[in-house]
Amino acid sequence: MIADVVVGLQFGDEGKGKVTHQLARNGNYTHVVRFNGGCNAGHTIYHEGKKFVTHHIPAGVFYGIRSVIGPGCVVSPKKLMKEIEELESGGIEVRSHLRIAANAHVITDFHVAEDARDEEIGTTKTGNGPAYRDKYARKGVMAIEIPELEDFITDMYTELHNNPDFDKVEVLCEGAQGFGLDIDWGEYPFVTSSHCTTSAVVANGIPHKSIRDVWGVAKVYETYVGAKDFEDEADTVFEQIREVGSEFGATTGRPRQISWMSMDLIKKSIKINGANKVVFNKADILDEVGVWCVYEGMDAHDFESAEDMEQWILHEVDEPEILIFSRSPERI
Ligand code: IMP
Ligand code: MG
Repeated sequence: MIADVVVGLQFGDEGKGKVTHQLARNGNYTHVVRFNGGCNAGHTIYHEGKKFVTHHIPAGVFYGIRSVIGPGCVVSPKKLMKEIEELESGGIEVRSHLRIAANAHVITDFHVAEDARDEEIGTTKTGNGPAYRDKYARKGVMAIEIPELEDFITDMYTELHNNPDFDKVEVLCEGAQGFGLDIDWGEYPFVTSSHCTTSAVVANGIPHKSIRDVWGVAKVYETYVGAKDFEDEADTVFEQIREVGSEFGATTGRPRQISWMSMDLIKKSIKINGANKVVFNKADILDEVGVWCVYEGMDAHDFESAEDMEQWILHEVDEPEILIFSRSPERI
């Protein structure tokens, strides 16, 4: 087996959907596997000139690749059905390619009602946290127990390790959220309830030995959605970045708080994830706003141009094999 991984290096919304979509098109993958999170995620994907937002469904469906919601995920049957209909009405065949691990857990109406009362964390109110809590309390409901999901159910072991349909399995692993929201590495309790790092891939049944590339995805500035104070309100350029960069939640529509990129976070996240390829998205937004800045510790580094900033970053992040600065929503 060969596996490539896509993870978020910041607080989600780094453009993982775009990178996964591009890799799925160019690679020889037999599977695309979502390995964490649920419909709290919102991956914006431009496919053949149309905009799609996926929540549970892995980006493999856009290219007819078997797309599996892994056992590390939680699924809302109702929202999944709606998402399938939305993609299919946009001309994407989903039903024949989508599979759900029998032991993925289910987000119930009760979980959503409970999450709706959250005020402390600023969750997406999709029932994600309560569903994971019940999973770990061993009170959860698994996908295999839900009649609506019956046609999609697969056994992850058979799917990946004992599958007569494939001579060789090549998996693209699609992460959700990001390092700064990881339950162990984020700023607890302002985190999500799943593991957002490469570690979660292995827990989904993909052996560590099969991992080839880990693509860390970042933005050239940071965004965060949730209850903690993140944006420095004295800095009015953030308002401009939010507008130019359309920084509003794909799932909730909430304005995302903005900050300059922290080099410390990027370095730590590259190391913990074992990322060997890094994509910095939305460089075009800073070009349009005309301000380039990166933080290192408490020090702000201001740059005259995108090229200056990129050279500095290239020098700082010397470990990965490939660094890409991306400027277009269509390309990586
Ligand atoms: P939850 O995952 O809905 O419980 O939300 C916990 C925290 O993670 C909140 O700050 C959310 O805004 C954030 N979050 C969860 N999913 C995403 C995502 O896909 N993108 C960005 N932030 C997210
Ligand atoms: Mg998103």
